[in-house]
This record gives sequence, C-alpha cells and structure tokens, in this order.
Amino acid sequence: MRILVTAGPTREPIDPVRFISNRSSGRMGFAVARAARARGHDVTLVCGPVTLGTPPGVRRVNVTTAAEMLAVVREELPAVEALVMSAAVADWRPAKAADRKIKKNAGRATLELERTDDILLATRGLREGRVVTVGFAAETGDPEPEARRKLAGKGLDLIVANDVMRPGAGFEVDTNAVTFISARGETWRTDVESKDAIAARIVEWVEAGRARLNCSP
Ligand code: CTP
Repeated sequence: MRILVTAGPTREPIDPVRFISNRSSGRMGFAVARAARARGHDVTLVCGPVTLGTPPGVRRVNVTTAAEMLAVVREELPAVEALVMSAAVADWRPAKAADRKIKKNAGRATLELERTDDILLATRGLREGRVVTVGFAAETGDPEPEARRKLAGKGLDLIVANDVMRPGAGFEVDTNAVTFISARGETWRTDVESKDAIAARIVEWVEAGRARLNCSP
C-alpha cells in the first residue's frame, strides 16, 4: 500500500524568533512509518520540526506550520490508500506574525490567535470511501468519549486515543497505552506497550481496513 503518515508538532510563528507549538516529539508517527516500511509498504512521512532521523526507505517531507502540512497532505492524498494522521497540529496560530522581533515593554502583552485549518476535516472529501484514515486523540483523563466524537466528526475509520496524564502514555517517552475505536464500533484497549508495538498494530489494522473499504491497489 501507499501510506501517508504525519508526525510531530507544527510551529506557528509569532515573530522571526518565537513560535507557538506543543510537546509532540514525533515518536509515535515515526514508529508508524517504520512499521509500515518494515511490512513492505511505500511510505511518505510528512513531519513538523522534530529531532528524529528519517527511517530507512521512507520518503520524508518536512514542514513547519499547519498550513504547510495541509498543503502537502492535499498534494499527496490522491496517490495513497491510507493516511495515518499522528501529527499534533497546532489548533491556533498568531493572527499576525510580526516580520521583526517584537520588543518587550513593561507590563502585560496580549497575543491574538486564530484557528488553523483542521487537516482531517479539510481533506474529508478527498478521503472518504477511498483512503483508510486513522486519527489520534490525545486527551487528559478518560479519552474515550472525546475519541468517539472525533472519530465521527472527522470522518475516520479508526481513532487511537490516549490519556497523556497516564504514566508511560504521554509525550517524549517510548511507550504508550491506547484505546483503539473503529468506525464500526469495535473497541480495544492496550496495556503500556512500546510505541513500536502499537505502531505495528495500527499498520496491521490499516491493511485489514483497506480490505474492508475495497480500495484499489
Ligand atoms: N488534527 C488535524 N488538524 C488540526 C488539528 C488536529 O488534522 N488542525 C488531527 C490530529 O492529527 C489528530 C486528530 O485531528 O489525528 C485529533 O486532534 P485533536 O487536536 O485532539 O482534535 P481537536 O478536534 O482539535 O480537539 P480538541 O478540541 O481536543 O483540541
């Protein structure tokens, strides 16, 4: 299969030296790209700023902002049968990025933010019924109600949900503990496992999901 994987955070500039971002390390998405390659798939990895090396045999496209990630995903989607959207896309960006460094002054400062595009929502028409799509929901506390809402609202075939507050399931660690919920209503929960083990389960599910959607090879 040709599989598109997104990974890492996006960075939204405030001025030439500052940005808004999040704690995503890219590890989960890189693990999915590696697992997919190991199972013989043709993998393109679109990633925000991360410090990880490119898995051998994987084509990598680097982006910085949510808008750049959306543009690349739109461009790549027609050529793939699966999308694994593990990037932690910033939901907000400064309404106006200053072109010079903002100088401090006494007292408070206010930053006006606007929404970024939701990549899964914006590409729904390009995917549905053709591209097996996996999304993620990183929540604080029980992730399942939110995950079900996102699964339906974003037009996903599978969502991988985790509670980032749970030990061994958060950012910058090599393990995770997740709940898989499929669009058909199946639910599975894993123990704390390596991100590589969870990535392999995701790729296996994608292979089976493709058979269900009857995508052309
Ligand atoms: N996502 C996306 N585009 C965005 C934000 C998120 O495609 N601008 C994708 C993520 O890659 C992930 C899924 O949507 O697969 C869930 O992301 P999340 O940010 O948790 O969902 P939100 O709908 O933004 O929910 P919340 O209200 O919790 O922020």
